[in-house]
Amino acid sequence: MKDELPADGTSAAHPKKWSGRFAEPLDELTQRYTASVGFDRRLALVDIRGSLAHARMLARAGILSATDLADIEQGLAEIEAEIREGRFAWSIALEDVHLNIERRLTERVGEAGKRLHTGRSRNDQVATDLRLWLRDEIDGLAELLRRVQERLLDMAEAHVDTLMPGFTHLQVAQPVTFGHHLMAYVEMFSRDAARLADCRGRVNRLPLGAAALAGTTFPIDREWVAQALGFDGICENSLDAVSDRDFAVEFLAAAALCMAHVSRMAEEFVLWMNPRFGFIDIADRFCTGSSIMPQKKNPDVAELMRGKTGRVYGSLVALLTLIKGQPLAYNKDNQEDKEPLFDAADTLADTLRILAELLGGVSARPERMRAALEEGFATATDLADYLVRQGVPFRDAHEAVAQAVRAAESSGRTLESLTLGELKRFSDRAGDDVHASLSAAGSVAARRHAGGTAPEAVRAAIARARARLSRR
Ligand code: ARG
Repeated sequence: MKDELPADGTSAAHPKKWSGRFAEPLDELTQRYTASVGFDRRLALVDIRGSLAHARMLARAGILSATDLADIEQGLAEIEAEIREGRFAWSIALEDVHLNIERRLTERVGEAGKRLHTGRSRNDQVATDLRLWLRDEIDGLAELLRRVQERLLDMAEAHVDTLMPGFTHLQVAQPVTFGHHLMAYVEMFSRDAARLADCRGRVNRLPLGAAALAGTTFPIDREWVAQALGFDGICENSLDAVSDRDFAVEFLAAAALCMAHVSRMAEEFVLWMNPRFGFIDIADRFCTGSSIMPQKKNPDVAELMRGKTGRVYGSLVALLTLIKGQPLAYNKDNQEDKEPLFDAADTLADTLRILAELLGGVSARPERMRAALEEGFATATDLADYLVRQGVPFRDAHEAVAQAVRAAESSGRTLESLTLGELKRFSDRAGDDVHASLSAAGSVAARRHAGGTAPEAVRAAIARARARLSRR
């Protein structure tokens, strides 16, 4: 812990007694240790939204007078302006965002401000704020994911016929099209979007009304508040409403998976930009140089995408660990939910934003993909399949082709360059048409079933993905 004044824009004050229940003021270190305003003021605007809905409900239920409501509405509007314009004076003596805003409201409108907290606790208040905030974040992320997918779809469309080696074990396996490869990521990102959308449904429930843990003695109307704030419904159980953070864990799990997908793509970009692969070039604006080696051009953005994935995993583990030992209901531990959640949402948003841009700076080098295909005997399976169609049992065909590959490799030839006569030495079933199965274009074109790599199959996959995206 730092022992100088907070550097986060909050002002320290000499600690006061928390309330009349306490015999001495708060210890200064306690004040600093327990305060969250340094980070939770990020919730200020959703906190105000929640307070307005709560106050309006109280007024409708006759718990708050119309004049008090008018004062609260006006005061909160002014506070909102102060916050937006950076004029609000945050104080760590007031612990968190909720107490800071409430105190300011009372300063501005007096008595009415003191009535706002009727039938409410910071426990249901903070849970509500967090859900409102996360819902907005999810909506923003869904948009960013869409942008990434649209870029990938455009790239895939441009490369439905571009041949490249597909890999297993990072060894050349079979020919695929670059478009097909890119579409694999479109699939991953559409599942990520679906997971976020699914999680949003569970985020979007109203905790307010649970009060501290047991509900309130006032005749509140939770359904009305839920509707006013755009929630799909209320959290059914007051103890659960204030204490669980599983909605945040779900979000982090979805975010972690999405980062994993980005990271896999980033790893491929790093490999592919290496001249030994040379499959792509990444525009200079997304690369940096070395301070000592003048020749260097490094794929830093891709590397950082891969590196930042670990932060998001860290946030997921932090929250899982945070909730595991907590007895019902609310515990102050939960204050620790915010920073990992904020950091993960920011990291994912920043990453998707730059990924969408980066994709515009990636150019394929089909001639290098082609060269790698030829060196890798990528059509060996096609030759085996050809022999099977001539009646050779698959295992025997596999062995015959294995020997042909070995012979070609030792003489520095490609499979395609072996003559019919040479091929017949490995299997007498090889016929005049055998070379058609040995071309990469033929290999790819033959895989035309749904989910296959043939240009026509990829075109169909792109059309389906675009239709899915437009329904979202
Ligand atoms: N700052 C607190 C949090 O983030 C708000 C709730 C505090 N509640 C309490 N009973 N101390 O969780």
